[in-house]
Amino acid sequence: MIAHPARPDRRSILAGAAGLAALGAGMVAAPRGAMAKQAADLDRVEALIARMTIQEKAGQLNLLGDPFRFRPMNVNPLDGQGDPARITRMIRDGTVGNLFNGVGAEAGRRIQTIAVEESRLGIPLLFAADIIHGLKTVFPVPLAEAAAFDADLARRTARAAALEGAASGIHQTYGPMVDVARDQRWGRNVEGAGEDVWLNEVLAVARVQGFQGDKGLADRDALLATPKHFAAYSAAVAGMDYNTTDMSEATLRGVFLPPFRAAFDAGALSVMSAFNDLNGVPASGNPWLLTDILRDEWDFDGFVVSDYTAEQELIAHGFAADGRDAARIALLAGIDMSMMSGLFLEHIPDLVEKGDVPMARVDQAVRRVLMTKAALGLFDDPYRGCDPERERLVVGSREHRGLAREAGVKSIVLLKNEGVLPLNPSGQKVALIGPFGADVDNVFGPWTIWGDETRRVSLEAGFRAAMEGEGDLVVVKGSDVDAALPGGIEAAVLAAAQSDVVVLAIGEDSRMSGEAQSRTEIDIPAPQRALAEAVAATGKPVVVLLRNGRAMELSGAVKDADAILVTWFLGGEMGHAVADVVFGLASPSGRLPVSFPHRSGQQPFSYDHKVTGRPADNALASQEFVARYRETTNTALYPFGHGLTYGAVTYGEVALSEATLDWDGEVAVSVDLTNAGDREVVETVQLYIHDRVADLTQPGRRLRDFRKVTLAAGETKTVAFTLRRERLAYVDARGRPAVQPGAFHVWLTSSAQAGEPVILTLGPRAT
Ligand code: BGC
Repeated sequence: MIAHPARPDRRSILAGAAGLAALGAGMVAAPRGAMAKQAADLDRVEALIARMTIQEKAGQLNLLGDPFRFRPMNVNPLDGQGDPARITRMIRDGTVGNLFNGVGAEAGRRIQTIAVEESRLGIPLLFAADIIHGLKTVFPVPLAEAAAFDADLARRTARAAALEGAASGIHQTYGPMVDVARDQRWGRNVEGAGEDVWLNEVLAVARVQGFQGDKGLADRDALLATPKHFAAYSAAVAGMDYNTTDMSEATLRGVFLPPFRAAFDAGALSVMSAFNDLNGVPASGNPWLLTDILRDEWDFDGFVVSDYTAEQELIAHGFAADGRDAARIALLAGIDMSMMSGLFLEHIPDLVEKGDVPMARVDQAVRRVLMTKAALGLFDDPYRGCDPERERLVVGSREHRGLAREAGVKSIVLLKNEGVLPLNPSGQKVALIGPFGADVDNVFGPWTIWGDETRRVSLEAGFRAAMEGEGDLVVVKGSDVDAALPGGIEAAVLAAAQSDVVVLAIGEDSRMSGEAQSRTEIDIPAPQRALAEAVAATGKPVVVLLRNGRAMELSGAVKDADAILVTWFLGGEMGHAVADVVFGLASPSGRLPVSFPHRSGQQPFSYDHKVTGRPADNALASQEFVARYRETTNTALYPFGHGLTYGAVTYGEVALSEATLDWDGEVAVSVDLTNAGDREVVETVQLYIHDRVADLTQPGRRLRDFRKVTLAAGETKTVAFTLRRERLAYVDARGRPAVQPGAFHVWLTSSAQAGEPVILTLGPRAT
């Protein structure tokens, strides 16, 4: 767990009248004005609850798709089925309190007017949306951005997305996704920060801070963050989306929960429950997750929204008999707001009347929702963000586009480079070959609903803007993404033969990753591999530009290319960002947030796997009676943290200021970095540890810190980290930080598979 600054205790406030006794403690911690405002909000909310009918209460817990500002988006099963006339009636009679995935300031004002002026109690609507990696300005997909290993960048793009969302009349975003993703077959890796716990924590904090801003949720530019999907959704068996999850409590607490905890500590005030069954109890009907851990252990004081129809799906899970039963189970487990199914609205009145759900539980959920609306300032200004003039100014601004290009550049990872990159912007004939050369449909990537389609820079456009000689670029498609093109290979081979270098733009299209896009093999589709083989056979140097939303298995001519750049889905400025790196305007600086395995069959794979009782020696080609596959070692082809630059960075020996870390002491661990190359680079130094002997078996390596360091040509710098006991600790099976005295390996190195460790001893417990 990473340490975050203490926050005021708002739980006591959201707990309502019963929690008022505890209010005093919070009041001491928070600024007087803020606490006075919260106390006034609470009075207002309690007064409202006292006046609400049971239907109106259920309405505040009901979230439906926005049919007014609807645009076909193909992100959810029932998209487009909302009926504006029906929803208008529901807003008027107070039976829907929240709408999602409609965007736009002017229409937002019209819809909000119905709630505020035409409903009995005038409670404002909450508008939510899936603003995942930008709104009109599209930034790199979250997995790509994770490759930048840059919390500040993640904060800035989330801030920009929040500015655009908030100026478009949105109050809440369904992000960040903080599911640690270790099975690359699962399509939703693309939405998160990859396989590592620490990186997920760091970026969860940054993204929550970016979405919510630092001026409080009532600020006009704040978007309420909603970390998702709680919990263990990404650990679906065999990487199949929506599948069951089955894991030990130690793994759940040590790997999958910490990023959520970090997000809440950073102030996230809502959370989305997950679809999956967790150890036999579906997450959206799981009181242990949603109440015992979330509320009792963690003091979370916001509201829980179910994922899309997730509480209804308790029936299909075989956990609820019918809709009424599903609503009862979900509500009692701790779901406060029901997304899309309508089951809370339909059944809460009867459930309460028959005594199956106490009114106090309904009031608690309503209080959480209304207090969040109050925290967002909606009772003071229900029309926040409903200003078309501001929307025009903020949304898709030039500044945001510049940030998208910067983020794109920083997200690109150079896997290998045998002297071919960067290319010359002039005097070199380039054949840009593959389905993504001229393509604009696959630059945004999945989960882009409102992106500016007039601003999708293709690789071709980016290359043309960067290259000096008009005639130096030839662009040939060669193949479709998953089907051969008649004559495609012949045309590609001809173009390659007439050029000095081939740039192969191949990989996955946007639809191959994202929700419900699980794969059995994480390879490049066969027709594109055939294209790569044919082009490589010309003998021309080949640079691969990989388009991908997950780690991939690379083979044949792709694996053997002279250079490989992982370019993901980089958003609207993709072509420029890639050209900046390919033509050397910027040195690549991204690092893999997911390991690229040798084989698909190694999935699930993460560098921080346990060692086992029969560890394999990965240096040996074959070995009997150890934990390994027949076909490959247990390493990755390109491990987590790997990424090259256009410089030549070498690491000196890692030094410790003391060989023993006293129980309450600290030691410095440092290394000299030298850039022997001839241009400035950014190196990401990674600090890994391995706890040699612990009460819970530990991974072979675990990332515990990292730092980006700029090195001029020829420069040497010493990089030092401070280690304290807390940083050596792990999360035990009951969720507590734990550490035992003894030996630790410590690395300062360039990837999860590089470097030699030094040994640090944690001294005996202080008495
Ligand atoms: C996804 C969520 C998303 C929701 C609303 C669901 O299918 O799992 O991540 O926020 O739809 O669009």
